[in-house]
Amino acid sequence: MGKTTDTKMDRMVSLCKRRGFVFPSSEIYGGLGSTWDYGPLGAELKRNIKDAWWGAMVHQRDDIEGLDAAILMHPRVWETSGHVANFTDPLIDCKTCKARFREDELDSSRCPMKPSKTPRECGGELTDPRQFNLMFKTFMGPVEDASAVVYLRPETAQGIYVNFLNVMGPSRQKIPFGIAQIGKAFRNEITPGNFIFRTREFEQMEMQYFVKPGEDERWFEYWREQRWAWYRGIGITESKLRWHQHGPDELAHYARAAYDIQYEFPFGWKELEGVHNRTDFDLSRHAEATGKDLRVFEEETKEKYIPFIIETSAGCDRTLLTVLVDAYDEEEVRGETRVVLRFHPRLAPFKVAVFPLVNRDGMPELAHKIATDLRTEFKVFYDDKGAVGRRYRRQDEIGTPFAITIDSDTLADQSVTLRDRDSMEQTRLPASGLKRALHDRLKI
Ligand code: GAP
Repeated sequence: MGKTTDTKMDRMVSLCKRRGFVFPSSEIYGGLGSTWDYGPLGAELKRNIKDAWWGAMVHQRDDIEGLDAAILMHPRVWETSGHVANFTDPLIDCKTCKARFREDELDSSRCPMKPSKTPRECGGELTDPRQFNLMFKTFMGPVEDASAVVYLRPETAQGIYVNFLNVMGPSRQKIPFGIAQIGKAFRNEITPGNFIFRTREFEQMEMQYFVKPGEDERWFEYWREQRWAWYRGIGITESKLRWHQHGPDELAHYARAAYDIQYEFPFGWKELEGVHNRTDFDLSRHAEATGKDLRVFEEETKEKYIPFIIETSAGCDRTLLTVLVDAYDEEEVRGETRVVLRFHPRLAPFKVAVFPLVNRDGMPELAHKIATDLRTEFKVFYDDKGAVGRRYRRQDEIGTPFAITIDSDTLADQSVTLRDRDSMEQTRLPASGLKRALHDRLKI
């Protein structure tokens, strides 16, 4: 962990490990810097985040199509896109201690030999800044020479641009329309850290919206609003979100205008998603490099033009971290600290837990029957170990919105107790009405 995290963040990270959300990758070998594996609950949470994004961006609209492009692309794609020349960070080396720093983070970095000092203050000899390309390289085929170099994609966007016409034709879309994709991206980051905030392998959820030149500013505003609303819709605290507009010195090489949605993490306000006006930069360059005509024909005006692109680019892992940080809560209940992950029900890995009060008198059999029935519609956790109070706490810790207890009254009158994670209130209701009650409460 970085030194800027607070203790609540540390406790949240340790809960992630203990309860099976996120583990260091290759941990039994000592881990591999900044790579993480998602355990059973983390995989479920991630899947729910992706489903919420795909639902909002693809399923609930008729103007956006989905795509799943390959990670390895023709190496010329990355020359054309500008990544080979421009996707760099300026680095400064310390000749004394051999540490390496990003130039723009020099004053917030610490000397590894004298951690109370910045690299400028510690007396070490610093080099001039040098450009370091962030793309991972590998070789395709048996020969490892320059002609076999391919890159692991540093963004999913290029897979969308090169397939723009492949998608537009068969789907019979017309401008304006979009293409959405979720997939892995790789960057050889110099300063990864803050748990899963900045890693070298991560997933992006990107959407490219193709519009008529001149209409780009309107669509840019539209997509800013949509994306802000999406984070509110998955339950992120709105007062912890803000916009950050890129100044001329921050703009990526492809962008005319860019705004980030930032979240107030325990380690400061940081980027969560970028909304970019990429103009016709990418399609024009791909058209020029390949000789392919990437213009569209507009029937009404008989015009041919290269569309402008409005991009919304979110990090899946970073959204997951935001969801965890935002949901993590500790409160005092009857002299004990109750840890609760107050996930939006849509994102919660388990929607409901089922407990037999005791392991006898036919209660486990009935509880299993109820759990099996609920599993046709919800992700259910079955637990028959220990006191019911402790079982509730275990579910609070992993964010399960509801728990159902089967007791001796259930055997007599088929009623069960439904307990709410957030209010801890318990309601008695007939087992036959459970599915309906859960749907009403979960709103999913
Ligand atoms: N196609 C545009 C693009 O890739 P970006 O601002 O470089 O834009 C978009 O990245 C999003 O991808 C970021 O807002 C962040 O959520 C996520 N992201 C970028 N680099 C990341 C990293 N090293 N680790 C985790 N997420 C990252």
